[in-house]
Amino acid sequence: MRVVIQKDYEKMCAWTAQYIADAINARGGEKFVLGLPTGSTPLGVYRELIRLNKEGKVSFRNVVTFNMDEYVGLPRDHEQSYWYFMWSNFFNHIDIKKENVNILNGMATDLQAECDGYEKRIAQAGGIDLFMGGIGVDGHIAFNEPFSSLTSRTRVKTLTEDTRIVNSRFFDHDVSKVPTTALTVGVGTVTASKEVIILINGHAKARALAAVVEGGVSQSWTCSALQMHPKAIIACDDAACDELKVGTYRYFLDIEREARI
Ligand code: PGA
Repeated sequence: MRVVIQKDYEKMCAWTAQYIADAINARGGEKFVLGLPTGSTPLGVYRELIRLNKEGKVSFRNVVTFNMDEYVGLPRDHEQSYWYFMWSNFFNHIDIKKENVNILNGMATDLQAECDGYEKRIAQAGGIDLFMGGIGVDGHIAFNEPFSSLTSRTRVKTLTEDTRIVNSRFFDHDVSKVPTTALTVGVGTVTASKEVIILINGHAKARALAAVVEGGVSQSWTCSALQMHPKAIIACDDAACDELKVGTYRYFLDIEREARI
């Protein structure tokens, strides 16, 4: 696992956006399959990718995307649906083809069939080349709450009270308005990707970062499954490293010195 420590949020986002743009460009116009998250954390990466796209430094014409998750019961045009989030914060501003965007449908009548079909579509696309994700304060990756199976695939998950409280900031701070279930790719779906980048910023996520990097592989911190991945990167800011051992922190600053921007 690589841990790329940047000074602050902006630098973490700039580094990650450049990494993604370089990976797409390295394909030389061939198809690239990108896994994407929602949430507050990736917004800076999306802003930076939009800038790179507008400046002609990266094109999404041959990029196919799969989003991590979607609330159950929110229609696409609901301002808090992840479909709405992705189009308003990213897809509407880049040159991606509409038919190349894949987002789980939380209004499907048969939710498990929707999830199974999603796994099939990922396989048909040739698997995910790079999955970018965020992390919850409890270490969840996508909506794989603590104690989710580390080999899980796309399915319906019940959201914990903690996650609903955290996300209530987008629902007028009213927890009762936050959906109780979501469709989410599994931990196994993420780790089956050829590469994974997880963004972690801010002191509030410091405990999760330490657990994921220094703790054992455990279903109680589902993101720790990345320790078994051959090509996983944690892109973080300095504040998120507050709970790391000094030796761990220095080790990654040393071996990742070329990644500093
Ligand atoms: P956040 O969400 O980026 O809004 O902190 C991350 C997550 O819950 O996975």
